[in-house]
Amino acid sequence: MEFTISCDPIATHTTDCLILGVADGGKLGKIAKAVDKASKGALKTIIGNGDISGKVASTLLLQQLPGLAAKRVLLIGTGKAGERSAANYRKLLGAALNVLKQTGIASATFALEEDTVDERDCYWRSRRLVEQVAAGLYQFDRMKSKKADPVKLETVAIYTSEADEETGELAIREGAAIANGVSTARDLGNLPGNVCTPTYLAEQAIALGEEYDNVSVEILDEEQMRELGMHSLLSVSAGSDQPAKLIVIQYQGGGARAKPQVLVGKGITFDSGGISLKPGEGMDEMKYDMCGAASVVGTLTAVAELQLPLNVVAIIAAAENMPSGKATKPGDIFTTLSGQTVEVLNTDAEGRLVLCDALTYAERFKPAAIVDIATLTGACIIALGHQASGLLSNNDKLAKELLTAGDYADDRAWQLPLWDDYQSQLDSNFADMQNIGGRPAGTITAACFLSRFAKEQKWAHLDIAGTAWVSGKEKGATGRCVPLLTQYLIDKS
Ligand code: BES
Ligand code: MN
Ligand code: ZN
Repeated sequence: MEFTISCDPIATHTTDCLILGVADGGKLGKIAKAVDKASKGALKTIIGNGDISGKVASTLLLQQLPGLAAKRVLLIGTGKAGERSAANYRKLLGAALNVLKQTGIASATFALEEDTVDERDCYWRSRRLVEQVAAGLYQFDRMKSKKADPVKLETVAIYTSEADEETGELAIREGAAIANGVSTARDLGNLPGNVCTPTYLAEQAIALGEEYDNVSVEILDEEQMRELGMHSLLSVSAGSDQPAKLIVIQYQGGGARAKPQVLVGKGITFDSGGISLKPGEGMDEMKYDMCGAASVVGTLTAVAELQLPLNVVAIIAAAENMPSGKATKPGDIFTTLSGQTVEVLNTDAEGRLVLCDALTYAERFKPAAIVDIATLTGACIIALGHQASGLLSNNDKLAKELLTAGDYADDRAWQLPLWDDYQSQLDSNFADMQNIGGRPAGTITAACFLSRFAKEQKWAHLDIAGTAWVSGKEKGATGRCVPLLTQYLIDKS
C-alpha cells in the first residue's frame, strides 16, 4: 500500500474514488463545496434527494459525477461539529474502507474536511488515517494453504491544503511506521504456539538486528539464565520441551551515554496454566499470551524504521507454560534474580514469574524508565473490558506520559492504583512473597508483585489482557499497545 499527499485542484484530481465528508443535515464543507461547484451542483442535488443524511459513517457511492476527473465519489457522513470524537473518526474511516474493499477500486483519495475530528490537526488526522487503512487491510493467511485474494486497493492519497503538505508527508511516514509495527505485532500474536515458540521469537529479534546497523540482539539460553540466577523465569519453562529465552534487543539511536528507555515484554508463547491447568474452553487463545513481547518487537520495528534519536532496550522474557513431570508444582519456592524468594501457589500466575527476573535484569542498563507490557491478568478484563489497557506505575509523571501518549495515539490506557495497602495480599508463610494475591484486585496485586522488582526504577506496567486480541468470529491480535509505546518514544525523542 502506498500513501501520498495531494494538493491538486480537486476537480482535475484523478483517482478511482474521491472520498468526501458530508456533515449532519447534509451540510458541505470547503472541499465538498468546490466539488459541488465543479459538478455544477450535482452533489447538492443528490444530497437534496435525501440519500445521505450526514450521520456518522453513513455512506453513498456515486459514479461519474459531471465535471470531475475522479471516477467515483464516495460520500461519508461525519456527523455534528463538537461531537466528532476520535471514535467517530475510527467509525467513518472503517465505513469508507468497507466500501473500498467491496469494490475493485485501486486508488482512492481521502478529501475530508479540516473539521472532521474535533481539536485534531492535519498531522493527527492523516496519521490515524494511514494507521487505520493499513490495519483495515491487514490479512493473516500465512497458515492457510490457499492464500487470500490480494488487496485491490494500491494507493491512497490524502488531500491537504498546500500549507499542510509537509505535515502530511511526516504523518504518512510516522503513520506507516506505526502501522508496520502494529502488523508485525499482529503477525507474531496470530501465529500458533507450535510455530511461535520462544526460539522463534528469538529468531525474529535476530532478523530485526540484521536489518539495522544500530540494532543489536543478544539471546540468553536457559543455561546462561541459570548461571545468572533467574530461577523464577526458569520455573515457568520447567514443564515445557521448549527452552525459555531471554531476548535482549538494543536500539542505539541516541548518544552513547544517553540512558535508554527499557521495554519489557511478557512472551509466554503458550499458557496452559501449567499444573494449575486452565479449563479447556477457549484455551487456544492462550497462544496470545506473548502479545506483550509482540508489542515490544512491533514498537522496536517502528522505532528503527523512524530512526528515532534515542536509545531503547527491549527485553523479552519468552517461555512456554506447560504441565509435565518436570513442571513447577503449587507450593514450590524459587529464588529470583533479585535474591527475593517466591512461593508459587498457582502456576497459572506465571507472567509475573518471568517478568520479575526480566525487570531485575533491566536494571543493568541504567534505564531512564522501564515500561513492561503483558497479558497479565484476567481480572483486567473484568475491570476495564476490551477498550482500555490497564496502567500501573510507581511514578506519576511516567504514568501521565503514557496515558497522554495513549490518548493521542488512540490506544488508550487507564490507571489503577498501586497503593502499598494492597501489598500485604502477597504475604507468604514460607517465602518472601507468594505469586498470587487472591481474587480481590487481581490486576493490582499482580502489579504489586512486579513493583517489588523495580523499586529503584521509574517503572510502569501495562496490562493488555483485555486489549491484545479480539475473540469470536473476528478472532485476531490487535497490535495494541504499539501505537501508545511508539508515541511515548516519539515524545521522548
Ligand atoms: N495469561 C493469563 C492472563 C489472561 C487470562 C489474559 C485470560 C487474557 C485472558 C495469566 O497468565 C493468568 O493466567 N493469570 C491468572 C492469574 C491468577 C492465577 C492469579 C488469571 O488472571 O486468572
Ligand atoms: Mn497464566
Ligand atoms: Zn499468562
